[in-house]
Amino acid sequence: MKKALIATSIAALAFGSYMAIGSYEQFKNMKEDKRVMLFFMEKAFMDTVAIEPQLEPPHWQDGIAAMHGEKIYQAQCAACHGTKGWGDNPMFPRLKGQPYQYTINQVKSFASGHRNGANAIMMKEIAANLNEHDLYNVAIYLEHADLDIASMTAPIKGFKLPDSGQLQNATETFGEDSDYIKHPRSISVKGQVAVDNNTQLMWTRENQGGMRLSEAAMHCGDLSTGGYNDWRLPTIKELQTIADYKNSKPAADTNIFTGIPVMGPAGFWGTPVQPIDNNTNSGWHVGFPDGHVMGYSNDGYKNVFCTRSESGQYLIPQLSDNQNGTVTDDVTGLIWQQATTNNHTWEGALQQCNSLDLAGKKWRLPSYPELISVLDYTRTRPAIDTSIFTENDTTGFYWTSTSDVIDGTNSLGALFMAEPERNETAQESFKISNNRAWGVSVDEGGAWRFKKDSEYSVRCVADE
Ligand code: HEC
Repeated sequence: MKKALIATSIAALAFGSYMAIGSYEQFKNMKEDKRVMLFFMEKAFMDTVAIEPQLEPPHWQDGIAAMHGEKIYQAQCAACHGTKGWGDNPMFPRLKGQPYQYTINQVKSFASGHRNGANAIMMKEIAANLNEHDLYNVAIYLEHADLDIASMTAPIKGFKLPDSGQLQNATETFGEDSDYIKHPRSISVKGQVAVDNNTQLMWTRENQGGMRLSEAAMHCGDLSTGGYNDWRLPTIKELQTIADYKNSKPAADTNIFTGIPVMGPAGFWGTPVQPIDNNTNSGWHVGFPDGHVMGYSNDGYKNVFCTRSESGQYLIPQLSDNQNGTVTDDVTGLIWQQATTNNHTWEGALQQCNSLDLAGKKWRLPSYPELISVLDYTRTRPAIDTSIFTENDTTGFYWTSTSDVIDGTNSLGALFMAEPERNETAQESFKISNNRAWGVSVDEGGAWRFKKDSEYSVRCVADE
């Protein structure tokens, strides 16, 4: 109890300092561009916090880092050190099984010239050309060269992507979330745990408390509840599926998920730990006041929901290029426009997709969860597979069809949005006050809400 209290106070402090403002109210009332700046300030904050000695990276994050590390290793190291890191040739030392910190330190020491034995010259240039992020991944791969990476990163069997939760119109223009009900939200409560009938993920219902990312991963790893002991920290995509965008403060169903702070720091951790903008000391979180997706220093404090699944993870899309300007993702069954078009207002974005004539499909603007689904959080800048999506706007945001309900609508919006039947007066006030929608940065993977007359990019989506 005491620990949770301290954690919450630290979280509050951290929240306050990166916001550099006193309260959430103030934050809400800030001008648009100042708040957009905050989007990036949180990133800056990640870079400036003092980093204490890291705990061992836990198992769940190793899969992703190792997957990348293996590719780099095979391309740049295997020729000398052997395909499995065994050092088959006695001239080249065995690397496999070394603690990742050891590998990192040795490579840095070759790069700096500090380690300069007779054969060090062979390593110097290779070491100097390896960036921090790649080095981390290779080192993790070498420590765990036996991991079954494929099964750790496979998709969940029977996975369906839930709708954003929005059932009401915010505009007359066709194409927003309420116009396409595909997989209505469906979460069943079973005692202390909840099962999402769309994603097949099981969740702890109660906020597990504020903690650092590595502690959060270990907490879920050690957890035994609901008759299961294979809990883990959710991926950022998994965590976003429980955000319910018809609600705000918090953007979640509080009959199911309990203990979410209503004001102030209501962020929850998601994985992978990295890369975010090539920063190995950062994790992802969903901020539940409104459901934003953002990076954060993994030494900061965030809250925790643990999850488990019978198979796989919802993390990496399974994309195939249909060779006709469209891309299919087998994880969601969605078909994506390969190209990007720029400079659309939100209304313009809805219309752009409604009128897109491509491959004989009926196109629409993707919802916020849909646009997140096509991103690949094991990549960064951009956080999307560029071998398939060759054209991306890496400077701005992409519009989604999901309106923002936290701004202006306040309790009225949230209240009436929870009512399934239409209330004309409430709907009218929703339309007037609801002048923002969610935009996603395909470059980094973060998401924020923007004024609907801002101009951002568009990638349309279609159903199979
Ligand atoms: C051209 C051959 C060559 C390539 C390619 C190469 N290495 Fe090496 N590496 C060596 C040699 C030779 C040594 C031993 C140097 C010494 O003892 O001073 C070494 C030593 C090391 C060591 C120190 C091992 C220990 O236990 O002291 C590490 C770590 C290492 N290499 C990592 C890598 C990584 C990571 C890559 C790929 C990014 C890589 N090497 C690519 C030749 C190579």
